[in-house]
Amino acid sequence: MAMKVALLGCGVVGSEVVRLVNEQSEELAARVGTRIEIGGIAVRRTDRDRGVDPALLTTDAASLVTRPDIDVVVEVIGGIEPARSLILAAIGAGKSVVTANKALLAEDGQTLHAAAREAGVDLYYEASVAGAIPLLRPLRDSLAGDRVNRVLGIVNGTTNYILDRMDSLGAGFTESLEEAQALGYAEADPTADVEGFDAAAKAAILARLAFHTQKVTAADVHREGITGVTAGDIASARAMGCVVKLLAICQRSEDGASVGVRVHPVMLPLEHPLAGVKEAYNAVFVEAESAGRLMFYGAGAGGTPTASAVLGDLVAVARNRLAGTSVSEGGHDTGLPVHDMGET
Ligand code: HSE
Repeated sequence: MAMKVALLGCGVVGSEVVRLVNEQSEELAARVGTRIEIGGIAVRRTDRDRGVDPALLTTDAASLVTRPDIDVVVEVIGGIEPARSLILAAIGAGKSVVTANKALLAEDGQTLHAAAREAGVDLYYEASVAGAIPLLRPLRDSLAGDRVNRVLGIVNGTTNYILDRMDSLGAGFTESLEEAQALGYAEADPTADVEGFDAAAKAAILARLAFHTQKVTAADVHREGITGVTAGDIASARAMGCVVKLLAICQRSEDGASVGVRVHPVMLPLEHPLAGVKEAYNAVFVEAESAGRLMFYGAGAGGTPTASAVLGDLVAVARNRLAGTSVSEGGHDTGLPVHDMGET
């Protein structure tokens, strides 16, 4: 029997999810063993051409997420409300959820995980951090037997694009931001990018998965954006053999008893593997006790790469359904507390 998907939001990412599900329909069905079908799409207005079947569109998201024929809800509208209420309603109605909503997960992931566990449904969110890069499942699963000590990440494509243009072309801040927006990398309100809020939300999610603690929220992340970075700062960094990058830094305290998370511009030596990350690419550098140093690299934003991560999660849900299991990704809690990184 087909797995029916309700999509909440049909913007840059949502419309690509629909396109990929339709285009790869046969191949996915053969690979997964069940057909994945779009059963409905909730949008704010139904009178715009989004390149999708208009018969699927509805403005009634609340009814769509609890519709009996829907098996899984994909949320790509972003923001806290109405996303949280819709996701909780979907979970309450026994639907699995795939979301790209970093802001919501960073603020209230604990509530979503608890609800998903109680309902015995899946909660996946690979697309919420670093777009296409397989990162959350490796942290949660592949490294589950290791001890991660530090995670350093370039997790915001817009700011990396701006800093890279300023560094390599001597371009101005505003012009580079406009280019990033035109390419579809920036958030609707670019303040979230340039002031580091977007990276801070992603850092909180990374810290929770890397250190197996539900205690970290976006509010615990010490944050500074790139609006204060000048052409002079970038030239000085160059003169010292460094490049300026906005880094998310998640690390254990020396005694291992707590974790700290911060986001701020860093002068990175050119030899560091993260220094060569150009344009809007993302990369995350993980230091683990046994595995050593690992780097995850790729497209961190944009409709198609982010839709790839959503589809990967949909396949995981489909496989779980066939196997009769459910996964609330990263829902476990060792209780490791957070320490303030404002002074370090
Ligand atoms: N605005 C984000 C970025 C989009 O630039 O990385 C992906 O989360």
